[in-house]
Amino acid sequence: MSFRNFINFEELSLVNEVGKVLTKGYSLEKTLSEFLKILYSFWEVEYSFIALSYRSSQTLRIVKAFGLTENEVKRGLFESGEGIVGKVFKYGIPIVLSDLDEKNYLNKTKLKDRLPREITFIAVPIKIGGEFLGVLAIFKKFKTQENLGQGLKILQTLGTFLGIVYKLYQNMEEQEALWEEEKRELTSALEEKYKIEGVIGVSEAIKRVTLLVKKVAPTDLTVLLTGESGTGKSLIAKAIHFLSPRKEKNFITINATAIPETLLEAELFGYEKGAFTGAYNSKKGKFELANGGTIFLDEIGDLPLSLQPKLLKVLQDKEIERLGGEESVKVDVRFITATNKNLKEMIAQGKFREDLYYRINVFPIYLPPLRERKEDIPVLIDHFLNIFNRRYNKRVKITNSVVKILMEYPWPGNVREFENTLERLVILSEDEIRVDYLPSYFYSKKEEISSDTLFEKIELTEKEEIVKALERTGYNKSKAAKLLGYSLRQLDYRIKKFNIQIKKF
Ligand SMILES: Nc1ncnc2c1ncn2[C@@H]1O[C@H](COP(=O)(O)OP(=O)(O)O)[C@@H](O)[C@H]1O
Ligand SMILES: [Mg+2]
Repeated sequence: MSFRNFINFEELSLVNEVGKVLTKGYSLEKTLSEFLKILYSFWEVEYSFIALSYRSSQTLRIVKAFGLTENEVKRGLFESGEGIVGKVFKYGIPIVLSDLDEKNYLNKTKLKDRLPREITFIAVPIKIGGEFLGVLAIFKKFKTQENLGQGLKILQTLGTFLGIVYKLYQNMEEQEALWEEEKRELTSALEEKYKIEGVIGVSEAIKRVTLLVKKVAPTDLTVLLTGESGTGKSLIAKAIHFLSPRKEKNFITINATAIPETLLEAELFGYEKGAFTGAYNSKKGKFELANGGTIFLDEIGDLPLSLQPKLLKVLQDKEIERLGGEESVKVDVRFITATNKNLKEMIAQGKFREDLYYRINVFPIYLPPLRERKEDIPVLIDHFLNIFNRRYNKRVKITNSVVKILMEYPWPGNVREFENTLERLVILSEDEIRVDYLPSYFYSKKEEISSDTLFEKIELTEKEEIVKALERTGYNKSKAAKLLGYSLRQLDYRIKKFNIQIKKF
């Protein structure tokens, strides 16, 4: 084999660039278009196209082209066996045509009419194993016959690359379609009794919660919502109110952690003019404001001990007394409380009154963390993508590989963290959400690595090997090159590329 048979530097960069694009995780469409752009930028291919057969049909269609007009692309339909493209597809062999006036060249796209005369047409199969998937075709000027021979080889290799990639995408698409169907089935199987507007989920856990909410909403029972932060307690509290006969009246939320202890009592119970310094007017408290409606005491576990007996009294008597007031006022309120704390434990520690606990724990509803109901994640993705695409006027899509990572992540901040993450991803993304838009803590090291880091890894080990070889040979480059199976120039190129310091002795 003569030295000329080796691939030259220009072509090496071409293959290298193609490799990078193929592993970027773009959509098929974008991958193919980037691919053809590289042929142009790195190899001066001014006209090229990729024709594929969809699901082993006998017709090929141009799915991506470079340098062709829209109409030329539209005309790019080829039957198997028909013309050059059809033959390359049918027999899985490459065809080179230096004379486009040849009768076999059918000029279906009509591109020929505006091409220079001395251009060569090469069409190679896109295949994987014995399966022919399509055709990659280029029009390029070659300086010598030799260049042409090499070009053909490169192109055949690229055709095989494309075959692998196309097959991968097809498999992914099939999986996605299956998944979509499953999701549709799951969602449509959700009967009316399991549905609450704005509460998304298909898991048994969510169904159970929904069922309980529908049962308890029409009653006046006190509800205690428990679960980690971000699991939807506030959402469910509101849902209960709006499914109750009190829905036309106020829904008042008070968060025990959001208000300083000294003000909390006045906020809850209201006060009369002159009740304390600064009380220039009388003011209604939250209980009174909620009259006829629902009061939601969020973070009840953080209610100061000093206020707990007072709340207990309201729950028992349904009466309140404003601060500085003399008579008590009847209030008709429905109580919903929520906490992410373990109240039983707090009772044991003397931080929460047991009698109050029994008063609020009439109808408990537990919201499980998101990591325990991962089957909700795909429908939550749809839900939030819809919301944020509308909000930001985008049409961002998500790929399977990202869904997979979102499914595996434990979501310590539950749906709130999930919602915020999707919003961020939609804002960052143009057309599709990419793995590398996720914060790095999303994927642990052994799982999916983005292609960029994969490349870095390969280069790192390559660098390590070179350093090792240099050390072993006492930094003698020719010896190290021999050890590594590189030419001296190749080693030099890599030493520069990796910025390896050559120690002098
Ligand atoms: N099942 C769900 N479907 C849709 N959105 C949800 C769901 N659960 C929670 N969310 C959303 O997640 C965020 C956090 O929920 P929230 O009710 O505030 O949690 P918590 O009160 O338990 O901390 C809110 O924006 C809420 O609308
Ligand atoms: Mg909340």
